[in-house]
Amino acid sequence: MELSGKHIVVGITGGIAAYKSASLVRLFVKAGAEVQVVMTPNAREFITPVTLSTLSGKPVISDFFTANTGEWHSHVDLGLWADAFVVAPATASTIAKMANGVADNMLVTSYLSTRAQVFVAPAMDFDMMRHPSTTRNIATLSSDGCIIIEPAEGELASHLVGKGRMEEPETIFKTVAAFIKQNNIKENNSLDDVYINKNALAGKHVIVTAGPTRERLDPVRYISNYSTGKMGVAIADEAMRRGAQSVTLVLGPCEARPSEPGIKIVNVESAREMLSACLDNFDSCDIGIMCAAVADYAIENPADKKIKRENTAVPDFKFAKNPDIAATLGERKRNDQILVGFALETDHELENAAGKMKRKNLDMIVMNSLRDKGAGFATDTNKVTIFTSDGKASAFGLKDKHAVASDIWDTICVKFQCSEN
Ligand code: C5P
Repeated sequence: MELSGKHIVVGITGGIAAYKSASLVRLFVKAGAEVQVVMTPNAREFITPVTLSTLSGKPVISDFFTANTGEWHSHVDLGLWADAFVVAPATASTIAKMANGVADNMLVTSYLSTRAQVFVAPAMDFDMMRHPSTTRNIATLSSDGCIIIEPAEGELASHLVGKGRMEEPETIFKTVAAFIKQNNIKENNSLDDVYINKNALAGKHVIVTAGPTRERLDPVRYISNYSTGKMGVAIADEAMRRGAQSVTLVLGPCEARPSEPGIKIVNVESAREMLSACLDNFDSCDIGIMCAAVADYAIENPADKKIKRENTAVPDFKFAKNPDIAATLGERKRNDQILVGFALETDHELENAAGKMKRKNLDMIVMNSLRDKGAGFATDTNKVTIFTSDGKASAFGLKDKHAVASDIWDTICVKFQCSEN
């Protein structure tokens, strides 16, 4: 069966469309998935837990505790158990809570604890749907990596006609099933898998470069690239979660910031500044991950005043080659250090990535291709193939960047046997 062995959390919130969630649960169960329904307290006003527990074959979870036994429901266990986490219908209120981390019910706490891909199917009245605050919150969820299943247009509960009807259960089902299939999410994403690696980086010092660099043309202009820094920031966060003793993030100018506390951020602007920050920190590190999109050229003769358009002459900039930070660290690398690079390619991906790993003396290279939709710059997802210096390669499906960071650390930890000491 299409989804056999897969674990799906269906989160139901308090809206008229909640009755459609029964069909959604049924579709997942019919496809062979194990379904755990989590309801917000309001959702129970719209559809009974008995209907859903009968369809899913499991007691519905709604509260942190079972009232009569005092049994605690672990939102962490539930979040980690899931291969996919589907919130349908998602009301304006739950969307706002998810976007802002307001963890006052079982659904939102489980959402905050999950590593699975999250799907959000909004359903609300026309004016609520188009309100700037809802638009803002949906955009936040989307940039946090959730897949938004846009509501359809039609007659709403208020009899207004417009956008706000939850998408049909069949469409939600197909979207989730296609994602799981494409990403070949491993069966039995069990807690054991997660706990094996939980402290794998204990005692390790890690340095990560992330984001773009800027090369100055004059005091107000620069040359840069589309890197958002999200991939490198996710790698730094994941290192911290796996118990690294220190994580230094050398960060080019971008908006992404780590969410784990304790990461030392060194903000830099140009490639030369990035190199200098790396040289200051690399020797004391065990593992370096070079994720930054470093400009290949600097401007040798930036203007010290703003260049005026009225000037008749076209500016005569001279380019100078920037240092290759990864290669410089590769030359310095001791045998007890691991250095990982990235290769963003548009053609001849495998040869180029393998060549770079050798040339820069890296132990591992993470290749992403701009030919893959959803991979590379300015997306929340990535699709990578990881090469190690022993000639092995592993290809992964399209995933959100947090999941990719986890795959990268899994590969490092397994390959280089990072242990607790
Ligand atoms: O040669 P290319 O830019 O494709 O190599 C990509 C890898 O090298 C990435 O890991 C990137 O962070 C690193 N790099 C670097 N310094 C440069 C150019 C690339 O560290 N000047």
